Amino acid sequence: MHSSQITESKLGQPDTAASHHSAAVAAFIRERIDSAGGVLPFDEYMEAALYAPGLGYYAAGSRKFGPGGDFVTAPELGPLFGQCLAREVGPVLASLKEACVLEFGAGSGALAVSLIEALSRLDQLPERYCILEISPDLRERQRKRLEPIANQHGLDIEWLERMPDAPLEGVILANEVVDAFPVTRFRVRNEKPVRAGVCINGDGFAWDWIDDLGDDQSTMNIFCQYQLKEGYTSEVCHRSKAWMGALASALQRGVVLVIDYGFPAAEYYLPERSEGTLRCHYLHQAHNDPLIYPGIQDVTSHVNFSALADAGRESGLEVLGYTSQEAYLLGLGLLELASPQPNDDEKQMLKTAAEVKGLILPSQMGEAFKVMAFGKQADKPLQGFKLRDRSGSL
Ligand SMILES: C[S@@+](CC[C@H](N)C(=O)[O-])C[C@H]1O[C@@H](n2cnc3c(N)ncnc32)[C@H](O)[C@@H]1O
Repeated sequence: MHSSQITESKLGQPDTAASHHSAAVAAFIRERIDSAGGVLPFDEYMEAALYAPGLGYYAAGSRKFGPGGDFVTAPELGPLFGQCLAREVGPVLASLKEACVLEFGAGSGALAVSLIEALSRLDQLPERYCILEISPDLRERQRKRLEPIANQHGLDIEWLERMPDAPLEGVILANEVVDAFPVTRFRVRNEKPVRAGVCINGDGFAWDWIDDLGDDQSTMNIFCQYQLKEGYTSEVCHRSKAWMGALASALQRGVVLVIDYGFPAAEYYLPERSEGTLRCHYLHQAHNDPLIYPGIQDVTSHVNFSALADAGRESGLEVLGYTSQEAYLLGLGLLELASPQPNDDEKQMLKTAAEVKGLILPSQMGEAFKVMAFGKQADKPLQGFKLRDRSGSL
């Protein structure tokens, strides 16, 4: 996800329809806060702001992706990202019987389009392409966009309501999904970590702090291991652990690719990252206040890839590689795929150059974004890690 970081005072103003929608989401959250006794744990606030049925940012109908939305993701830049992934996914599918692709959180469907078209050209289409999308609104948009592509390629595309009942052979993909999982926020106060909550403050919301960490041993371990100082504020994503466990059970044989922005734990909890990694995206502007514009802005946090790797290993998956998006896409031949084609005019060449820059420049998505692969009985090594594998840093 890419947008420019600015101060909140310079944020664009919502139009009347967006303001009304946000007011309805805020009313829903106020009720939740009242029912919780005045303070709602932040992960529940984030869940409501993003996913409350019919209201949350992902559950309702705002544009979200691309130039007219709030942010741009790698597949939204153009087809090259999907074409590179096809070079990794295709051979895995070809090595398995009745192989399936399961894509989590398919957004606008852009990755599915470019991946299916590239796999078709490689003659490595899966038996089935499944999508597990939490947002009913996005599911509908995906269906409209993908059904013609499925017909054109004679491919069966299926939208799942939950993890598959029978374990599958194939590839599981999640691009920029884990950063959208609700997180627990904590702060060190009086020499111990306390949980962030959200309370009502006039017409808006304010932070509050819940002394009781409950049985949250992970946050306590992070506090101790990284010797976090007074005032240090950050996040822990408990849901990614449960999600990795469910993925591991859903995979009989094959590969999982998780692509997202994030770092290993030692970098995540660096002393200088003392305000944490929560980021909001609104009309291509990034800022740090998730308590404004509920339901009409995206709220995300960076992924702790060490924790994700641990969760995968504990669930029986093997970590097959971890590297930057830049190294991964270059390893899969991005530059070859981007080389000018005989029919390309100047406009197309400029477009492709901009796409390549967006994907791999360190100032854009190249370094902040990482690729982590897990496997179960998978053939090794994977092509994308041949230039550089940073698994040792996890
Ligand atoms: C930032 S968007 C990324 C969309 C797309 N993968 C892309 O790269 O453009 C996050 C997506 O994940 C979906 N999502 C969030 N949590 C999910 C979950 N637990 N299961 C499935 N999809 C989820 C959202 O609805 C949305 O489609």
